[in-house]
Amino acid sequence: MQEDDRVKELQAFEATKAGVKGLIDAGIQKVPRMFIRPADELVEELNCARSALQVPVIDLGRIGEGDHREKVVGEVRRASKELGIFQIVNHGVAVEVMDAMLDGVRKFHELDAEVKKQFHSRESMQKVKYASNVDLYRSRAANWRDSLTISLMGSDRLPPEELPEICRDSTIKYLDEVTSLGETLFELLSEALGLKRGYLGALKCGQGRTFIGHYYPPCPEPELTMGTATHTDPSFLTILLQDQIGGLQALHNNQYINVEPLPGSLVVNIGDMLQIVSNDEFISPDHRVVANRAGPRISVAGLFTGDALSGTIYGPIKELISENNRARYKELTVRDYISKFFTRPIDKSGLDEFRLLQDEDNVQILSLCADTL
Ligand code: OGA
Ligand code: NI
Repeated sequence: MQEDDRVKELQAFEATKAGVKGLIDAGIQKVPRMFIRPADELVEELNCARSALQVPVIDLGRIGEGDHREKVVGEVRRASKELGIFQIVNHGVAVEVMDAMLDGVRKFHELDAEVKKQFHSRESMQKVKYASNVDLYRSRAANWRDSLTISLMGSDRLPPEELPEICRDSTIKYLDEVTSLGETLFELLSEALGLKRGYLGALKCGQGRTFIGHYYPPCPEPELTMGTATHTDPSFLTILLQDQIGGLQALHNNQYINVEPLPGSLVVNIGDMLQIVSNDEFISPDHRVVANRAGPRISVAGLFTGDALSGTIYGPIKELISENNRARYKELTVRDYISKFFTRPIDKSGLDEFRLLQDEDNVQILSLCADTL
């Protein structure tokens, strides 16, 4: 397709402010070109093996009791090191609160198009906004998804009246409960790194938060597009609530593992910032959501983005580095990370931008130079 045509198609889509939901409402039977994955990706997909692995399910129910906590810390450590993703049950967030959150997000996206339009924005400073595809003009192909973003990154306060009325109460409750679950998880993760329980909390890892309420409309040709293309999260930690439709997958050893919906559970994944401060001890996994004929699928990603307000400087944690395990990343602020994450070249991970060369790399580069001289 001509690049000009593609830009025109994107602009026309954007001008509707109705998102992918708008296309479905208009009765389209085929996936428009702008959503179709490039041919090389579609071929690669056909050859990509599927994993029969399951992501671990960790029961947080009795972490206050005796040696049960140690066991849970061990499970969190293993999952964070090997996969970077796991599910949790008995996490303390009430099922009714989760169901109401999913329901509220669905109702928002199903509002009358004229009402929903009022929330349409790509303004980075706006706390509450709705748009389809945050990276609409940068990605190779658009994704089959619309999103409502609620950002508590630049400030800790969110005046309730800024939230759409249709999901206001459910969102306030859910944000509250997930915020305290985040504290619990950062304690477990600190211990899993062999640090004091309050370590990551004191680094303000749980401070900035962004919640994204995704709406994945049913897709007439799911093989041709993606719900969410493969990515890592620019957070310390993400707590994801998904409904029972499925489609979330995590990459492990070049194979995608399905993260099967499990009633009452939440999905937890390590983000890039925690991979950096843990000096690669924990992994920020590539993950994606495949498109589906069934739908709509609703999910809510809660990203704990760290302190962007007072400019805390993050880097590999001193206690975790030594002569034999040198710092692998430069120091950075959350703002440094986010700005690189959203402007990096399409084939680079956000982590690459901050990675330090290791001695082994230097040796390799030197010998490469020697070979070419
Ligand atoms: C995300 C994400 C997965 C999902 O928002 O970063 O990975 O299931 N979402 O919607
Ligand atoms: Ni993600």
